Amino acid sequence: MTGCPKMFAVCVLLVWSLHHLHSQTQEVASCPGTQNSLSLSGSSEEWYNVMKDMYSGCKIVMGNLEITHMEHSRNFSFLQSIQEVKGYVLIAVNMFSRLPLEQLRVIRGTTLYNDRYALTVIVNCQKEHGLRELGLTHLTDILQGGVQIVQNRFLRYISLVNWADIMRDSSAEVKINDNGERGMCDESCGGFCWGPGEEDCQILTKTVCAPQCNGRCFGTSPSECCHSECVGGCTGAQDTDCFACSKFNDSGACVPQCPSAFIYNKHTFQLEHNPRAKYQYGSICVSQCPSNIVVDDRSCLSDCPPDKQEVDINGVKQCKRCEGLCPKVCLGTHTLHRQTVDSTNIDSFINCTKIRGSLYFLNNGIFGDLYRNISALEPEKLNYFRTVREITGILSIHSWPRELANLSVFSSLTTIHGRTLYRGYSLMVMTVPSLTSLGLRSLKEISDGSVYISRNKKLCYHHTVNWTQLFTGGRTQQRHQDTRGIKKNRPESECIAEGHICDPLCSASGCWGPGPDQCLSCRNYSREGTCVTNDEPMQLISLRGTT
Ligand SMILES: *[C@@H]1O[C@H](CO)[C@@H](O)[C@H](O)[C@H]1NC(C)=O
Ligand SMILES: *[C@@H]1O[C@H](CO)[C@@H](O)[C@H](O)[C@H]1NC(C)=O
Ligand SMILES: *[C@@H]1O[C@H](CO)[C@@H](O)[C@H](O)[C@H]1NC(C)=O
Ligand SMILES: *[C@@H]1O[C@H](CO)[C@@H](O)[C@H](O)[C@H]1NC(C)=O
Ligand SMILES: *[C@@H]1O[C@H](CO)[C@@H](O)[C@H](O)[C@H]1NC(C)=O
Ligand SMILES: *[C@@H]1O[C@H](CO)[C@@H](O)[C@H](O)[C@H]1NC(C)=O
Ligand SMILES: *[C@@H]1O[C@H](CO)[C@@H](O)[C@H](O)[C@H]1NC(C)=O
Repeated sequence: MTGCPKMFAVCVLLVWSLHHLHSQTQEVASCPGTQNSLSLSGSSEEWYNVMKDMYSGCKIVMGNLEITHMEHSRNFSFLQSIQEVKGYVLIAVNMFSRLPLEQLRVIRGTTLYNDRYALTVIVNCQKEHGLRELGLTHLTDILQGGVQIVQNRFLRYISLVNWADIMRDSSAEVKINDNGERGMCDESCGGFCWGPGEEDCQILTKTVCAPQCNGRCFGTSPSECCHSECVGGCTGAQDTDCFACSKFNDSGACVPQCPSAFIYNKHTFQLEHNPRAKYQYGSICVSQCPSNIVVDDRSCLSDCPPDKQEVDINGVKQCKRCEGLCPKVCLGTHTLHRQTVDSTNIDSFINCTKIRGSLYFLNNGIFGDLYRNISALEPEKLNYFRTVREITGILSIHSWPRELANLSVFSSLTTIHGRTLYRGYSLMVMTVPSLTSLGLRSLKEISDGSVYISRNKKLCYHHTVNWTQLFTGGRTQQRHQDTRGIKKNRPESECIAEGHICDPLCSASGCWGPGPDQCLSCRNYSREGTCVTNDEPMQLISLRGTT
């Protein structure tokens, strides 16, 4: 017999995965479970209280059941209600002698510990305390994954369990060693048990079945097979007699799918609304999703899929398909650890539609920072900003790649809110030698703050812009906004002389650069952001041209 390692390295990681502590519906008591593995955040006391809150009254654990680092004085009676675990079960580094998990029937193993094990019981032996019996007397089915039970110095009877009867996957690993003495089953058990008593006999539901049964059974005769929708076993042949359901539990009956929203009326040959329609929530059919869960089609989900966003319709959270990119709010720069956009943080701006805070582009971000070992930013990656529509703080450009002649990566930017300002400014563009135009073609509003555009030697077009029109705070006289900070760029006369002027289709409001797609507004008509002479679709014009 090997002893227990004296010290068990405990990495204190903060992997707190309690999205929803309670998600109980009236119809079924379920709880989310955890995914901390062996890490423990906070004290054992706090962790115990979290577990107690989560598992009290919980029948189905939607994630993993993890019990680690618990002292022997703890009262675990709240585990008594648990019947099913969707992910894995991990019992590690504890000091108690017994866990009240007698009601646990099924471990589905949709996630596995160490990618392999649905049930893991390791190193539960500290000093004189330790797990003595596993007592999973009702566990009859592990749908995926293996079993690992090692280094539980006091654990007895564990080698008397018939794992082949429990596990679906006959090729999955069963690793059982370094545990306590073998023990002896009660005579009535037929050789397989979880403990010494009559009540500890293992319930066999697979290896004892008649060959006609295509799964599990409740007796040895061919007429005693379980329904095909059952998991773990059953008390009779009906789909209402199952211990647990293979797919969905519809008020006690195991069904391949929840009652759908429409039913076919064979008299009218039409699909009709099904008043009994239900949502699928894990393995349960419910008539309403729990309140903190979103509804998507006929499913209850904890988060919407990537192409949908959460909306509140009559107090019900639903997933709705986004028009274009789903809104995504991202944190700006100039906070504690992000002085500037640079090669280390640029990826965090992918798909962002709104920047909470400000965006700063400084030299050490654009060209890299030898001192901090940060490489230069690839200009291509600035295209990530093409999805940004709003900035709540300011846009401040002190540096820009030499390859880029404008700020057209911000061509979707409509609003700079200026909720925090830098010396009264909310748009700053300075000392960028490559800049010939701003290219901010969608910018419609600068809600607060003035504009500072200075010492950009080649910059034109900015003279033409009617900034007053953009200064929405200034217009209502609630804010002071001005253009006194626009200076020392390319002289307007030189721009005009070289033909850097607005397209004739632009109105007097000005433009952000050359071409009819850079106008603030159009003299005649606008089609998809580009000014045109005629309010007719292109096809019509070209058609007419050919006749
Ligand atoms: C454990 O807690 C349960 C309910 O919270 C209680 O009924 C039971 O008496 C407690 N057991 C011990 C040994 O304290
Ligand atoms: C199905 O859910 C009901 C609660 O709605 C529960 O009482 C019953 O035990 C469940 N049956 C199975 C087979 O999981
Ligand atoms: C960005 O959005 C696209 C389209 O919705 C999606 O395919 C992609 O995975 C997203 N990327 C990231 C990093 O969010
Ligand atoms: C700098 O970073 C690169 C990878 O980004 C790494 O390979 C290199 O070892 C780092 N150098 C120093 C001095 O940290
Ligand atoms: C903006 O600059 C890029 C090159 O940096 C160029 O391809 C593009 O045409 C410019 N757009 C405008 C409107 O000037
Ligand atoms: C600029 O816009 C403001 C507000 O829309 C308007 O009152 C003003 O006449 C415009 N100035 C020019 C020169 O067009
Ligand atoms: C476009 O606007 C200009 C000036 O407002 C006007 O002279 C011209 O006739 C308009 N053209 C069309 C096709 O409406």
